[in-house]
Amino acid sequence: MAYAAFRSIGAYVPSKILSNEDLATMVNTSDEWITKRTGIKERHIAAQDEFTSDMGVKAAELAIERSGIDKSDIDMVVCATISPDYFCMPSTATIISTKLGLGNATAFDISAACTGFIYILSIAKAFIESGMKKNILIIGAEKLSSITDYTDRGTCILFGDGAGAAVISATDNKDEAIIDVHTGADGTFADLLMTPNGGSGSVHDSLDQEANSCFMQMKGNETFKVAVRTLTKDVVEILKENNIESSEIKHFVPHQANYRIIKAVGDALKLKEEQVVLTVAKYGNTSGASIPMAINDIYERGILKQGELMLLDAFGGGLTWGSALVPFSPLK
Ligand code: UT7
Repeated sequence: MAYAAFRSIGAYVPSKILSNEDLATMVNTSDEWITKRTGIKERHIAAQDEFTSDMGVKAAELAIERSGIDKSDIDMVVCATISPDYFCMPSTATIISTKLGLGNATAFDISAACTGFIYILSIAKAFIESGMKKNILIIGAEKLSSITDYTDRGTCILFGDGAGAAVISATDNKDEAIIDVHTGADGTFADLLMTPNGGSGSVHDSLDQEANSCFMQMKGNETFKVAVRTLTKDVVEILKENNIESSEIKHFVPHQANYRIIKAVGDALKLKEEQVVLTVAKYGNTSGASIPMAINDIYERGILKQGELMLLDAFGGGLTWGSALVPFSPLK
């Protein structure tokens, strides 16, 4: 049987920084409030002519180069995004694949909001274990600034842009394999976090520009409470089902939505500070890109080493949630 190995990581962060002080000149907020309630100090914003696919390409180039796998051997590209280059089609994965020169590899996007990277990890694992594909490029890429309402202080303080990518490959060495991936969803909480306008569910006049905008809306405090509850339950379950103690986790890499959510889940698992990966202060919430950007951060800081076990954990609009037990298994 083929197993799926997490071979490499790459990320891209746009250069422009939007600080809490900048936001305080745009909406009624302050650095003190944002820092205390979220842990975010700044986020990066893509240039106007820089698309989600452009960021995805830059992250993917690094991931492919670091994987040691020839790009002609990549046979599938999956992108998790809620801010695609184009509404509906073509998919951002197809654009990324073509910009990278990956020939006719299968390419498609999935929409699972902030849980997107865990969903595409599960897809890659399943395709490889079934023998259908051998080397899969997975990308979380977001230009959330394109769907953020910068007059709404409840959301605009949270989100940033960026991309992260990984190469997942077939191996027959079980020690290298992704151990488990959990994913779940519950649409009864759909109205907590959504882009209510612009789709076929929108009943507004087609000429009403404002109603057709794809801005995110969130019931922040309710989302916060469901997030802590769901994330804690999910990580406890995945550890229990795989007979793994939280002390065996070298790197807990949660979705970077809010420092208080991460702290609550880390405390519930009795994790030590050095086990918890934090990038929320410098990147904010980058939805489907946040987990691979955080993994890249520990990789580039030299903290992530061959064979070390990561516990990934995410929660997002839908609602969706997921977790994964992933050893880092580079080829070189
Ligand atoms: O990534 C996907 C999942 N997303 C999340 O998990 C996000 C979850 N939610 C959160 O991170 C937090 O709920 C927020 C950071 C969005 C808000 O923090 P909170 O502690 O839940 O605040 P709140 O919504 O209960 O609001 C408390 C007060 C309110 O004022 P009153 O009614 O007490 O007078 C808000 O109007 O804070 C006010 N407020 C702000 N004040 C200054 C809300 N946003 C701001 C702001 N600056 N940006």
